[in-house]
Amino acid sequence: MTPEAFYDVLLRRRDVRAEFTGEPIPENVLTRVLEAAHAAPSVGLSQPWDFVLVSDRDTRTAFREHVLAEREVFARSLSAERNETFGKIKIEGILESSLGIVVTYDPARGAPDVLGRHAIADAGLYSVCLAIQNLWLAATAEGLGVGWVSFYREEFLQELLDIPAGIRPVAWLCTGPVSGLHETPDLERFGWRNRRPLTAATHLERFGVPATVHNP
Ligand SMILES: Cc1cc2nc3c(=O)[nH]c(=O)nc-3n(C[C@H](O)[C@H](O)[C@H](O)COP(=O)(O)O)c2cc1C
Repeated sequence: MTPEAFYDVLLRRRDVRAEFTGEPIPENVLTRVLEAAHAAPSVGLSQPWDFVLVSDRDTRTAFREHVLAEREVFARSLSAERNETFGKIKIEGILESSLGIVVTYDPARGAPDVLGRHAIADAGLYSVCLAIQNLWLAATAEGLGVGWVSFYREEFLQELLDIPAGIRPVAWLCTGPVSGLHETPDLERFGWRNRRPLTAATHLERFGVPATVHNP
């Protein structure tokens, strides 16, 4: 694979809400995408993730109702102006997508001697996020869309999916074929927030000291 092909996937990846077609994901494609997630680096090789595949309509409907209630909770915290902008933004495609993939984190896996986690407990969670990013990129390469939903209370999802105590749901990923991917993130398209330039995020030797970043 050329570097260009990799960067193309990286830059085409989008968070998808409204573009799911609902068509099924071929089984071999789903396996490849899950294998990609499962190939992620993890602290102490703990591989602390699991993937719960949710296609049942009743389960997805129950989750969506909860998400919409949490959307209201967030909306109530906003100023009138921000709320107006937020009102135009779709935040999930739970029913429109083909499959919900719930990614969980088990802090007990490999414990207590998780190599590399003794000082930073969050390193386990970082590992799960890397699996999610692998999944997201692989799905993009396969022509699928992914939409991360985090408008939920962990306890609700734990109960809904029989997730054992101590194991945390980290993401509900709406996944499936899409009609296309936008070039610009939805939050930018709808005027919620703009991306920062790389120069603003890059520091030289000390935090706060601007670094020059050359054009690629
Ligand atoms: C941890 C995390 C949680 C997110 N939760 C939601 C969510 O609940 N609903 C939503 O519409 N998008 C969610 N997103 C997607 C972001 O809004 C999106 O990644 C960001 O606006 C940049 O757009 P892009 O992914 O298309 O580049 C989440 C993304 C991350 C990384």
